[in-house]
Amino acid sequence: MLAEPFFNRHPGIWKMLTVTMCMVLLGCLQAHKLQGHVSIILLGATGDLAKKYLWQGLFQLYLDEAGKGHSFSFHGAALTAPKQGQELMAKAQESLSCPKDMAAGDCAELKNQFLQLSQYHQLKTPEDYQALSRDIEAQVQHEGLWEAGRIFYFSVPPFAYTDIARNINSSCRPGPGAWLRVVLEKPFGHDYLSAQQLATELGNFFQEEEMYRIDHYLGKQAVAQILSFRDQNRQALEGVWNRHHVERVEIIMKETVDAAGRTGFYEEYGVIRDILQNHLTEILTLVAMELPRNISDSTAVLQQKLQAFQALRVLQRGSAVVGQYQAYSEQVRTEQQKPDGFRSLTPTFAGILVHVDSLRWEGVPFILMSGKAMDERVGYVRILFKNRAYCAQNEKHWDPVQSQCLPRQIIFYIGHGELGGPAMLVSRSLFKPSVSPQSWKEMEARPGLRLFGRPLSDYYAYSPVQEQDAYSVLLSHIFHCQKGSFITTENLLASWVFWTPLLDSLAHEVPRLYPGGAENGHLLDFEFSGSQLSFSQPQPEQLVPGPGITPMPSDFQVLGAKFRESPLVAAWPEELISKLANDIEATAVRAVRRFGQFHLALSGGSSPIALFQQLVMGHYGFPWAHTHVWLVDERCVPLSDPESNFQGLQAHLLQHVRVPYYNIHPMPVHLHQRLCAEEDQGAQVYAQEISALVANSSFDLVLLGMGTDGHTASLFPQSPTGLDGEQLVVLTRSPSRPHHRMSLSLPLINRARKVAVLVMGRMKREITLLVSRVGHEPKKWPISGVLPSSGQLVWYMDYEAFLG
Ligand SMILES: *[C@@H]1O[C@H](CO)[C@@H](O)[C@H](O)[C@H]1NC(C)=O
Ligand SMILES: *[C@@H]1O[C@H](CO)[C@@H](O)[C@H](O)[C@H]1NC(C)=O
Ligand SMILES: *[C@@H]1O[C@H](CO)[C@@H](O)[C@H](O)[C@H]1NC(C)=O
Repeated sequence: MLAEPFFNRHPGIWKMLTVTMCMVLLGCLQAHKLQGHVSIILLGATGDLAKKYLWQGLFQLYLDEAGKGHSFSFHGAALTAPKQGQELMAKAQESLSCPKDMAAGDCAELKNQFLQLSQYHQLKTPEDYQALSRDIEAQVQHEGLWEAGRIFYFSVPPFAYTDIARNINSSCRPGPGAWLRVVLEKPFGHDYLSAQQLATELGNFFQEEEMYRIDHYLGKQAVAQILSFRDQNRQALEGVWNRHHVERVEIIMKETVDAAGRTGFYEEYGVIRDILQNHLTEILTLVAMELPRNISDSTAVLQQKLQAFQALRVLQRGSAVVGQYQAYSEQVRTEQQKPDGFRSLTPTFAGILVHVDSLRWEGVPFILMSGKAMDERVGYVRILFKNRAYCAQNEKHWDPVQSQCLPRQIIFYIGHGELGGPAMLVSRSLFKPSVSPQSWKEMEARPGLRLFGRPLSDYYAYSPVQEQDAYSVLLSHIFHCQKGSFITTENLLASWVFWTPLLDSLAHEVPRLYPGGAENGHLLDFEFSGSQLSFSQPQPEQLVPGPGITPMPSDFQVLGAKFRESPLVAAWPEELISKLANDIEATAVRAVRRFGQFHLALSGGSSPIALFQQLVMGHYGFPWAHTHVWLVDERCVPLSDPESNFQGLQAHLLQHVRVPYYNIHPMPVHLHQRLCAEEDQGAQVYAQEISALVANSSFDLVLLGMGTDGHTASLFPQSPTGLDGEQLVVLTRSPSRPHHRMSLSLPLINRARKVAVLVMGRMKREITLLVSRVGHEPKKWPISGVLPSSGQLVWYMDYEAFLG
C-alpha cells in the first residue's frame, strides 16, 4: 500500500482513502462521518472537451474533496452503445495527471480509485435516464449513504440541450432534500433572440439556481483574481480606479491558430460571438463593475455586474474594426463544400471600442480585441493609468518606485505569451499590492524580459503558487455552490442585448483581409477617436480579393474592384450611402486627430441628400465642431433661393448638426446685389478664403457627382474654364443651363487628399460605361480629369449605375 511519508504530507487524502476503502472494499459504512453522496454525470463523456479538460477536472475535484466527507460516483454518458462507449470513455480518461509533487505510486493508486468510481451509461431514451436514476439510488442505498446531490455536466452541442433537460427533469432529479446542478457550456445562443429562446426552454425544466453556465475564462486564475485583487487593495485603488486616473483598459485575447478544421462552427459564430460576447465581456464587467462590500456574496456580485452592463454605451458600427485571415474563405470552401466564388464575411479578428457611461468610467476607452492567426498567443487585461508627471532627470537615473514618469499599469496576465502562464503585474510606481500568499507568490527575476514596454523588474510581479486549470477551478466552484463565477440568465441576456445590434450591423461588412502571423505587420493596428475606431493603415492592394465574382446582395461591396484604376465601392443604394457616410466620418475623425480640423467640400444635387440625412441620423461621433464645410459649386442665385446648393445643404445637413457658423463657407455668388459679376471677383474672394484657411489648399475630402454628360462640380464639357491653369475657383457656364455657376477648378479638386465621386441611378449607366473606357479627356468629359495628384480617388456607385 501507500508509503508512510505520503500520509504525512496529505492528511486529507488519508481520510479520503479510509472512507473509500470502507465503501469500496469493506462495505462498512459510517454514515455519520459522511456528508452524503454526490453523483456527477458527464454528458458527452467521450468527447474532446471531456478528454482534454473535464475528466481531469473531475479527477482534481475528487483529489480535493473526497477526503472531506463526501463520497462520489462519476457517471460518463453518451449516445454510444455501452460496450463501445465504455472503451471510448476509457480512452478519454487515459491521460489523467496528479499534482506535480505527488509520488508516482500514489498517483497511480488514486487514479485507479477514481476509475473504479466511474462508469459508463448510454443515455438516449427516457428509459435510459430512469435506469440511471435507479442505479444511483440503488448504489446510495446499498452503501447506506444518503444522497446529497447530482451534478449533470452538459458537454454536448446546444441542439441537444432541450431533450436532455426534459429527461433530467422528468426522470433524473434526485429525491427530496438533495440538490440538482446542471452545468451548461457555450454557445448560449447566437444572438439575443436565440439566447432568450434557449433560456426560456431551459427555464421550463430547471430553476435558475440549478443552472451553472460556464464561461471557462472566469476560471482562469488571473481572471478569477480580478475581484479579489480589487477587494484586497481597496484602499490603494480607491482613488485611482476611475476615469480621472485610468487612461484606458485593454482586454486582449490573441491566438496563433486559425479556424481550420472547425470552420463549420466558426462560420456561424465568428470571433465576436466566440470570444468577445462572452469571455472578454465578462472580464470587462469584472473591471468596470462597482465592487460589492462582500465579494463572496455572489448575489451582490451579479447585481453589480448587471449594473455594469446597463452602463455600457450602445455600440455603433464605427465602434468596431473587423478582419479575416486570408486563407479563411478557402478553408470554408474546402471544409463546407462551398462553390468556387464563395467568400465568407465572417470576422476572425475584431477590435472593439467600448465606453462605460458610469460616473466612474465615463470617457475611458475599453479596448476589446481578439483574433485568430495572430503573431502570438497571449491573453491579458491591462489597466493603463494616466500620467501627468514630467521628470527632469534622464531616464537612466529613474527609480522604478519613485519615478512618476514611468508608465503606471496593472496587468492581469491570463496566460501564454512571454510569461508562459498566469501572472499579475503592478508597476512599482503605483503601489505594492497585497495578495493572498496562499495563492500568489512573487515571481523570480527574469533579466532581459520586458513586458508592456518595461523590464519585469519595474513591476511587483506575482504568479500562482500552483497553476490550476480553469475547468478544475470551476468544477470546484460548482461543487461548493459558488455561483459568482457563472453566467446567470440575466447576465447572459444583458450581454446579448449589448452585442446583437453591432453583430447585425456588421453582418454585411467585408472584413479586412490579413495574411496571418508576423506578416500581419501593422495591418491590424487600429486607432480611436471619440467613439470611432478605424484601422490605422489603408488596405494594401495585394490583399484585396481579385475580380471574378458577380456582386450579390449578400456581399454587396465589391472590395478591391476598380473603376478607372481607382478603388470602387459598389453596393445597393442604401448600403452605398451608409458606407460613404462611414468613410467620410472616418476621414473626418482621422483629419481632426492629425490636424485639428477637417475641410470638407460638398456638391449640390439630389444624390447627396440621402447622404446628408445619413450623416445627420447615424453619426454622433462626427467631429462637426472641428469641420469646415465648403461648397464644390454653386448656382448664381441668391443664397436664399431654393435652387441654391447652399440652401439644400442648409436644409438637409447644416441645420441639424453643430458646425460653428464661422466654419461654414458658402460661395460668394451674390455680392453688391449682383449675381456672379466678374467685376465683383467672387471667385477670387473664395479662392483667397480657401488659401487662407486650408493648408496647401488641399481639402481633406471633396465630394463630387457625375452628370450624364460627364460634367462634375460645375465644370462642363465644351467649356475650357477651370480645367487647368492657376485659378482655384472659377465662374462657368454651360449653354444648356439657365444660370452661371461658380465652381472649384479641376486643379484645386486634384489637390485634395481624398476625392469621393458618388454616382447613383440607372440614368448614369451610359456615362458610367463610357467613362470607364475613355482616357484623360477633361475637355470632353470633365470627370475624366479628376485625378488627385497626391491624394486618393474613390468611386461610390450603386448597382443601377454600375451594372445597369
Ligand atoms: C418537470 O418535471 C416535473 C416532475 O416530473 C413535471 O411535473 C413537470 O411538468 C416537468 N416540466 C416540464 C416542462 O416538462
Ligand atoms: C460574505 O458572503 C459570504 C457568502 O454569502 C458569507 O458566507 C460571508 O459570511 C459574508 N461575509 C461577510 C463579512 O459578510
Ligand atoms: C501641396 O500640394 C501639392 C499639389 O497637390 C503637392 O504636390 C504638395 O506635396 C503639397 N504640399 C504639402 C506640404 O502637402
